[in-house]
Amino acid sequence: MTSFSLPRSLRLCAVLLTLLLPAAARADEGMWLPLLLKQLNEADMQQKGLKLTAEDIYSVNRGSLKDAIVQFGGGCTGEIISNEGLLLTNHHCGYGQIQQHSSVEHDYLTKGYWAMTREQELPNPGLTATFIVRMEDVTAPVLQGIQPGIAEADRERIVQQRSAELAQKAVQGTHYKAFVRPMFGGGEYYLFVTEVFEDIRLVGAPPSSIGKFGGDTDNWMWPRHTGDFSMFRIYAGPDNKPAPYSKDNKPFRPRHSLPISLSGVKPGDFTLVFGFPGRTTEYLTSWGVDETFNVSDPARVKVRDTKLRILDADMKASDKVRIQYAAKYASLANYWKKWIGEMRGLKRLDAVTRKQQQEQQFRQWVQQGDANRKAAYGQILDQLEQQYKLVRPYVVARDYTTEAAMGIEVLAYANALQQLVDLIQAKAPQAELLAAIDKARKGTPGSFRNVNVATDQKVAAALLPLYAEGTPEQLLPDNIKALRKQNTTPEAWQRYVADVYRRSRLTSEASALQVLDELAKGNATALTADPAYQLIAPIVATYRQKVLPTYTQAQDQITLLQRTYIAGLRQWQPQRKFYPDANSTLRVAYGQVAGYQPADGVAYEYYTTLDGIMEKADPTNPDFEVPARLVELYQKKDYGPYAVDGTVPVAFTATNHTTGGNSGSPVINGRGELIGTNFDRNWEGTMSDIMYDPDRVRNITLDVRYMLFVVDKYAGASHLVKEMNLVGGPLSGRANGSLEQQPKKQKVKVKREKTAAAN
Ligand code: ARG
Ligand code: GLU
Repeated sequence: MTSFSLPRSLRLCAVLLTLLLPAAARADEGMWLPLLLKQLNEADMQQKGLKLTAEDIYSVNRGSLKDAIVQFGGGCTGEIISNEGLLLTNHHCGYGQIQQHSSVEHDYLTKGYWAMTREQELPNPGLTATFIVRMEDVTAPVLQGIQPGIAEADRERIVQQRSAELAQKAVQGTHYKAFVRPMFGGGEYYLFVTEVFEDIRLVGAPPSSIGKFGGDTDNWMWPRHTGDFSMFRIYAGPDNKPAPYSKDNKPFRPRHSLPISLSGVKPGDFTLVFGFPGRTTEYLTSWGVDETFNVSDPARVKVRDTKLRILDADMKASDKVRIQYAAKYASLANYWKKWIGEMRGLKRLDAVTRKQQQEQQFRQWVQQGDANRKAAYGQILDQLEQQYKLVRPYVVARDYTTEAAMGIEVLAYANALQQLVDLIQAKAPQAELLAAIDKARKGTPGSFRNVNVATDQKVAAALLPLYAEGTPEQLLPDNIKALRKQNTTPEAWQRYVADVYRRSRLTSEASALQVLDELAKGNATALTADPAYQLIAPIVATYRQKVLPTYTQAQDQITLLQRTYIAGLRQWQPQRKFYPDANSTLRVAYGQVAGYQPADGVAYEYYTTLDGIMEKADPTNPDFEVPARLVELYQKKDYGPYAVDGTVPVAFTATNHTTGGNSGSPVINGRGELIGTNFDRNWEGTMSDIMYDPDRVRNITLDVRYMLFVVDKYAGASHLVKEMNLVGGPLSGRANGSLEQQPKKQKVKVKREKTAAAN
């Protein structure tokens, strides 16, 4: 017996424990439907530290946490933090708006912006904030009478039609909007009724040296020190309902606004993230994971690598180009880096093998079952494998077409005009053509505002060869095959592209408008003779004719098979709680504050502080510039009531399962108070869109206290803090009070001791 052996009974316990442990830890995985919290999660959440009920989080009948959550624009989340419609989201979520209001003279990206009066709050045409009024399981009416075995396209048509009817009925006679979304690949359907506000004004943003501190170097990384927040305000009509922008609109009065906790967090504390996660694929098969890991991620990373390098050089050389490309660059760089992390994470988890093992077990379960089970699931995995094999070259073509060819802006613009030629050639009614041209005219300034043609030309010269090399031979258009033969060096491609850009009229707003004028006269050659058009048109035509048909058909098959596979998984593991993949609908994730071990011998703390910002400060690196005023506050230790142990907490990590779209989501403690704003995930955890790992997946949250410190002490916008309801910590019970009038030192101390004792 070695010293490690245990008595038999204990050994059994140890075995049971190891069996149980991963399951218990894995409980932090999941993005849950608010409607089902009572049924699926309430007990578990309360056991982990939630002091509220499921009804406090989501209720149709009374104000609940959900009434303080909005989808911000199309792709982020925001939370309401005052009774006057003040909205908190990330700096990177408001980035496009901040950029739109910026110019070289008024550079709010660099300097920040703070509305000191309501009049200074800046309108943002097109920006919306969407509340969820209620949700409902409509699986039965959507699927009623649909026979199994129906063609996927036919099923989809019926589903669409019924969804539209249900949505219409749900909002009749109201100002609400509604839509139906599939869950579990179309195994279930949910109706969402929404209220969409459209007068959303920019209230404040820190300078990028705070809001984007660490830049793309630190993006997706921990330890992190980014003050990634911005503030907006929802305005409503006189009846408190959504209204288009008007200077007479009033700040919106919400059904609920989140109190803000100054009590802070410690490891193990319950956390809840409430927001709109965009897309996950947790139920992929091994072939699906392999496609992402071996095909799509590498292709997209390669193209963006090249493009980003070109943009970066030109942005560094010119302030104008820097501002023009700021938002575009950030969004390209963001997923470029995410995919790199995802590949590493999938490799480390050996995700493909794990999926294969699961599939092996699933096959066994099917084999052990009755004839019904075999009929339902006996073929499913083989069929999925077949479809994935079939679709692979088309996936490659899709990735190179969308990322490389369409990533060239002059070509993308030329392609957008294709429909005008179609209308002329189809001899469409004059009115229809003129309406389409009018629309194109209106869109044209926007298409050129953020394009520097010299930069785009460099992008074209670098991306076209990647497209030509990456796309499978049989899916390449003839013009590209010929160009590939002619241009065997980078210089040759450059000369070719220079010639196209010199001769094309689609390289400036003024000459593009001329082309539109000629098209309006029915002269199609104005476009068809343009060399940029002649370059892109065959690429898109080949994509439409050779790629899309097979690609779409195979994807439809995969959708259908995947739906059946998920149904099989649920039947196979009836005791397991399943959550539907993220699909930009409202979800709750919950977990606990925790650090992690990124590598053997390395342990990360769960929080960072202002001291860390000063450690990273580097005036020679634009990602790590620290504004002078922040240094001054740091040197004076002028932290107001936001300090803990002589510094200001900046960010913390927790185990919540989040994804893109969760940016700006409130991170809420067990009492329903805001403790932070979600803004990122750790790099080691980015594969959680496909496979969650309880040991490594962490969401990254901006601590509310750093946000408050920046608003109050750095920007001097204390009028905003006065609107908020601060609870706990040193300011307990001082909602709407002036922070500066507090006899600070003594009182803060006494109160904090009390809080500590209470814990
Ligand atoms: N990675 C975060 C998210 O997916 C933040 C992105 C913005 N920041 C940046 N440095 N590009 O959106
Ligand atoms: N930054 C991401 C967003 O914009 C959130 C990070 C993640 O993907 O988890 O939504």
